[in-house]
Amino acid sequence: MNSLSNLLAHEIVDLYSAEEQIIDALPQMIEKAQNQELKKALEEHLRVTEKQKKRLEKVHKLIQQQDDSDEELGDTECKGMKGLIEEGQKAMKEDMEPEVMDAAIIASAQKIEHYEISGYGTARAFARELGMSEVEKLLSQTLDEEYEADDLLTTLAVGKEDISVKKLPASRSNSRSKASASRSTSRASSNGTTKRSSGARKSRTKKSSTASRGSKSTSSKSKNSSRSRSKSRAR
Ligand SMILES: [Fe+2]
Repeated sequence: MNSLSNLLAHEIVDLYSAEEQIIDALPQMIEKAQNQELKKALEEHLRVTEKQKKRLEKVHKLIQQQDDSDEELGDTECKGMKGLIEEGQKAMKEDMEPEVMDAAIIASAQKIEHYEISGYGTARAFARELGMSEVEKLLSQTLDEEYEADDLLTTLAVGKEDISVKKLPASRSNSRSKASASRSTSRASSNGTTKRSSGARKSRTKKSSTASRGSKSTSSKSKNSSRSRSKSRAR
């Protein structure tokens, strides 16, 4: 591996393996998810991921026209994705309350999304540097989709009454009181929520985890903000 284009070719082969592993892993996550909206979001992401895999085949062909690397799709197993998926599968084997299981699935899915966002962001920056505009465009498309999936998971985790992690008991002993207190707090403080969300949005360029976001208004802004985030980033 002697050049940036060799490195880009390698990144694409790695991302291809990541997408293949996600396609294999998602059906189990869909089956384990209890909340219907979460199930739907994961099913939709499976369809999107299959398209992303095909898009990477196109990207690989385009790079091969300019690159002397002989690395082929399927040559490499992405170890990073393998580890993330194994961690998620381990968590899903635990005996959990349905709501806790959903929160664990969202946490696992967001780790996967963040890994992909990092990988696609890097690959796009390399393509841009190499003047491969078609490759850059295709990678941007996927990057936008990954941001959207991540934003949707955040909305499901902290922005919805029926699945919100705010409903989860902090511990078994205070499960009932904590859950009902949390529900009444969120109903009674819609103004406060709006204020918090505006602060959260400001910090989103630096923080993208579930914990850093949180409001219903995030969902209405998520599509636009994810696009502008991905476009405004250097990579
Ligand atoms: Fe993906």
